[in-house]
Amino acid sequence: VRRDGVTVFDLTAQVGRSAIVPGGDAETWGLNGALLGPTLRARRGESVQIDVTNELDEATTLHWHGMHLPAAADGGPHQMIEPGETWSPRWRIDQPAATLWYHPHPHGATERHVYRGLGGLFILDDDTESALPLPRRYGIDDIPVIVQDKSFDRRGRLVDTSRRDNGMIGDTVLVNGTAGPILEVTSQLTRLRLLNASTARSYSFGFSDDREFSMIASDGGLLREPVALKRVRLTPGERAEIVVRMDPGETTTLRSYPQDLGLSNGRSRSTGAADTLDVLLLDAAGRLDPSAALPARLATIAPFDEASVAETREFELRNNRINRESMDMNRIDDVVTVDTTELWEVWNGHRQPHNFHVHDVQFQVLAVDGSPPPPELSGWKDTVYLPPDVRLRLGLRFTRYADPDVPYMYHCHLLWHEDQGMMGQFVVV
Ligand code: C2O
Ligand code: CU
Ligand code: CU
Repeated sequence: VRRDGVTVFDLTAQVGRSAIVPGGDAETWGLNGALLGPTLRARRGESVQIDVTNELDEATTLHWHGMHLPAAADGGPHQMIEPGETWSPRWRIDQPAATLWYHPHPHGATERHVYRGLGGLFILDDDTESALPLPRRYGIDDIPVIVQDKSFDRRGRLVDTSRRDNGMIGDTVLVNGTAGPILEVTSQLTRLRLLNASTARSYSFGFSDDREFSMIASDGGLLREPVALKRVRLTPGERAEIVVRMDPGETTTLRSYPQDLGLSNGRSRSTGAADTLDVLLLDAAGRLDPSAALPARLATIAPFDEASVAETREFELRNNRINRESMDMNRIDDVVTVDTTELWEVWNGHRQPHNFHVHDVQFQVLAVDGSPPPPELSGWKDTVYLPPDVRLRLGLRFTRYADPDVPYMYHCHLLWHEDQGMMGQFVVV
């Protein structure tokens, strides 16, 4: 709905029932439905308002992951929505086209709320992306792929007690809430907007016949140019847009392959890193719509200017803490000056998998243990994997929104770790 130049979306968090596995009957949570929520879509320059109503019987929040916006609109743990209430944040979209998402963020309960089914995509468009010959017919050759793992008991109910050191690892992989999904491919090129919306599991995506695909975008938007890959790793919260070419009548399966997360063998098993999982079967029709060839260049991303850095900070992730502190809603850990550039050195001093997510900004990965990042980490990111003992150098620019009273978060996006306190708060002033 458009009202006074503002696009208004309605989302209602509710309890529902879903038959996800054959014959099953699970209590699930969804937004405007029984499981997950609608894809929201807005254009750079557009003003949006989201009316979020909570019809659950406990408080929750809704956070716009990857969005550049005022802290009071962020939907973090300080913007709780009590049962029966509606929260209506409003902001103007001011960032490049990207595949973002939304999910709850109540402190200490984020894992459970996401696992029960709250979440969805938030796609942003802009003129640069729209001018490129990319697949963009939503649901036809531009497909949302929200990947989550869950566990079910014999009656098909969701099991959310199978928690291990790193959080819940399920044995059933769902795409957009569906088990065993099949995509009927009707074009030569298909764009898959991959989101790892799992609470703890990482995926190393590839195709069953080992075909190459082109990665065109990371968390915060288009890469400089398409990158040819056979595997792309997404840890919880990360996104990648990939384009796959198929011939008429072909089938292939998007799979998650065993991956090296830098862990010992035992931990690789307990985190699911050793698993092979079928994610999505792609089944091409006998005749395919022609697709334009991918452009050689996608986006202009200015190199990070290290000379302009105003502040350098260090973050060590270890034992569910960051810099030895556990999250405290009443403690501000860092104060950032608006319209400045900072360098954040982040490292995992722990033999467990962690990643690092920052609210409000899209950052650049400048170095991985002193070396330039691989091409899939060369674009805008808001969440990045941190292997044990590895040090990442991130460049961040904090623009426009200052509020001394309301913090943004940074945290590990393995949601059990976040819930356990591996999170800190910063204000931009
Ligand atoms: Cu996607 Cu602070 O989270
Ligand atoms: Cu976020
Ligand atoms: Cu972690």
